[in-house]
Amino acid sequence: MRRALIALLGAGALLLAALVAVALPAAAAPGTLKEAAAAKGRVFGAAAAQSHMGEAAYASTLDREFNQLTPENEMKWDTTEPSRDAFNFGPSDQLVAHAQAQGMKIRGHTLVWHNQLPGWVGGISSRDDLLSAMRGHIAKEAGHFAGKIAYWDVVNEAFQDGSGVRRDSVFQRVIGDGYIEEAFRAARAADPAAELCYNDFNIDGRNSKSDAVYALVKDFKARGVPIDCVGLQAHLTLGNVPSDMQANMQRFADLGVDVHITELDVRMSTPADGSKLATQANDYKKVVSACLAVSRCTVITVWGVTDKYSWVPDVFPGQGAALLFDDNYGKKAAYNASLEALGGTDPGDPGDPGDPGTVTCSYARTAQWDTGFNGQVTIKAGASAVGSWTAVLTMGSGQQISGLWNGTPSTSGNVVTVKPVGWNASLAPGASASFGFTVSAPSGNQAAPALTCSSP
Ligand code: XIL
Repeated sequence: MRRALIALLGAGALLLAALVAVALPAAAAPGTLKEAAAAKGRVFGAAAAQSHMGEAAYASTLDREFNQLTPENEMKWDTTEPSRDAFNFGPSDQLVAHAQAQGMKIRGHTLVWHNQLPGWVGGISSRDDLLSAMRGHIAKEAGHFAGKIAYWDVVNEAFQDGSGVRRDSVFQRVIGDGYIEEAFRAARAADPAAELCYNDFNIDGRNSKSDAVYALVKDFKARGVPIDCVGLQAHLTLGNVPSDMQANMQRFADLGVDVHITELDVRMSTPADGSKLATQANDYKKVVSACLAVSRCTVITVWGVTDKYSWVPDVFPGQGAALLFDDNYGKKAAYNASLEALGGTDPGDPGDPGDPGTVTCSYARTAQWDTGFNGQVTIKAGASAVGSWTAVLTMGSGQQISGLWNGTPSTSGNVVTVKPVGWNASLAPGASASFGFTVSAPSGNQAAPALTCSSP
């Protein structure tokens, strides 16, 4: 009796377990960049400017999607110590408070850089004086934020572009090669908890400049100079993600430092169009995938929240549209590609190849003769971008498509399904693509084929 009861209870428990297993839905794929990145053990950040924080869409997009914030300008020397020993942490304190309230990590940017450097620093000509000014600046700034900063870009852009030679900055000229390690030692002393990074541009792939940074990190590691990470800025141009980016990150990781992608953007000549945006989406996907393939690539940060305020058009005239959100805070194809590369999905926002979107289509006869005609189908994206489209033509009796251009047909009986050819797959909001075809038909039968379309 007892045994039977136990058996019955056991069976009941099994049944219950089975029911629970059926009732629990599979965990939904993460729907924001920060959630998807967190699920992969990564951080996804954005540079942000205090001057835009009052714009509701700016702040809400930042807060919704990103879990790391880099002050775009507020922690630079010309803002924090505009004249010697006179410090101003007003704007940076506000950004730090916002980030902390949102649970975002903060990247300090940057302690020692040749740009946005107040004139008084450039005027120092004695080695001891500049060393003490630099140490004083670092002690005060990194000390002010100590405990609140996850990562510091201690030294920024110390090498010349296109070579392994040190940049001719006032620090290099007056202090000499040793200024970089002095800066790192001062930063460690001021904030022992922060990860200390060297940060530069055009070191995303292997080249003479990244070789020089590699040699620097290797030397620091060998001599015990404190360094924890290398920042690859990744200010990229369309279609030019270095093919060896992953290998380059891996070689830094193998030296025992973390790798951060710190200022990612992919600029294009403006205006943007569907095909450029699709290339850009693929570029972002490549960068995110390369990072995920390197276990020590722990942070991906884009250089701005929205194209509306990107630095690109100011510095590279005629270029822009480099970020994940457009001028109206709409998600671009690059957003979806990044999210999907991180393993997330955003069912509410089409635009990535494979994502559904809304398209409408129309048919027009463009030529006709006794035993046939030419037709053209135009597919138009709705308010959201679409990554791809499908048109289905049902031909009338005796009608047959004998040629088709700018589309990829597959035929089954009298139904012809047409997909894009590649370059005309992705459509910006409101943009359209067309394909044409020739029909051979019984004499005088120019009846329009039935047409439906969908996305993808
Ligand atoms: C840029 C800012 O985005 C601009 O607002 C500012 O006018 C100039 O600096 N590399 C860096 C960043 O390390 O600090 C730069 O930020 C972009 C290039």
